Amino acid sequence: MSTAAVTTDAIRRHGFSGRFVHWTVALSTIVLLASGLGQLPLARRYMVDTLPLLGWSSDFGVTLTLHYAAAAGLILAVTYHVVLHGLRREFAILPRRGDLRESWQIVKAMLGRGEEPENDKYLAEQRVAYAFIGGSVVLVIVTGYIKVLKNLGEFALPSWLLWTTTSLHNLAMFLIVLGVAGHLGAFLFKANRKLIPGMLSGKVCSQYASERHAVWCAQLELGETRGSSQPAAPDAERP
Ligand code: HEM
Ligand code: HEM
Repeated sequence: MSTAAVTTDAIRRHGFSGRFVHWTVALSTIVLLASGLGQLPLARRYMVDTLPLLGWSSDFGVTLTLHYAAAAGLILAVTYHVVLHGLRREFAILPRRGDLRESWQIVKAMLGRGEEPENDKYLAEQRVAYAFIGGSVVLVIVTGYIKVLKNLGEFALPSWLLWTTTSLHNLAMFLIVLGVAGHLGAFLFKANRKLIPGMLSGKVCSQYASERHAVWCAQLELGETRGSSQPAAPDAERP
């Protein structure tokens, strides 16, 4: 059942599951990036390993172990996310037709040109960002898995497959860096910063929610007037 109360000061936006998945993906991605770049081997070339506490960054045994541990965390979080939201039939964050056009409208409105459209739980640009980062994460996991098979040495993989896999793994890394930079860059806009408490405590300011996510709030109110025995709305996050 949704705990959202649109009339109180704060409104619940994410339950424990959503925050657990977000921060596990964020943390594991950062560790995967650092350990992957260490393997390239950028840490030795740019003497990162001579900095205090960073001697490990060019040690292949250490970076590979870190890479495997973080990969396990990433795969766990992604699997949990897909199974949970699939079972609950919560698809509010998946892209919709016209999202690119609407994202441009939102960016223009944040720069003071024109009005923002009425938004659902997620802004169109968030749905686009989700698809972009999510697609790149799937690519990095699939190619990473093939690289693990190569390392286990149980199968003789052809050299063209190894070359293609490594190229795609590196391409996915590049796309993830781009996606995360765009994601963090979005918080340069003051309006977007109101979402940050939601990823920490689970709640956002209800005034912000009703002004910016009117479609979502209307769904939550509809769910509450129907009574607790019915879902608030098909796409509303449960705690
Ligand atoms: C300090 C770092 C980060 C902060 C403060 C942060 C914060 C946030 C916030 C506030 C949201 C919006 C949630 C909502 O609509 O209620 C979000 C969504 C999201 N985050 Fe992060 N995040 C960080 C790092 C990352 C990293 C490293 C990744 C991925 C590798 C990531 C992936 C996502 C995705 C896929 C979404 C959903 C799409 C979107 O809202 O753009 N985040 N994050
Ligand atoms: C954000 C996610 C990830 C990033 C940024 C990343 C980045 C990198 C980079 C830069 C390398 C070194 C260059 C190369 O050999 O291609 C690498 C190697 C590797 N990665 Fe990843 N990776 C990620 C996720 C994963 C995952 C999920 C797995 C496993 C399922 C994985 C498995 C491997 C393996 C086995 C290697 C080769 C190690 C070796 O040389 O023996 N990676 N990764």
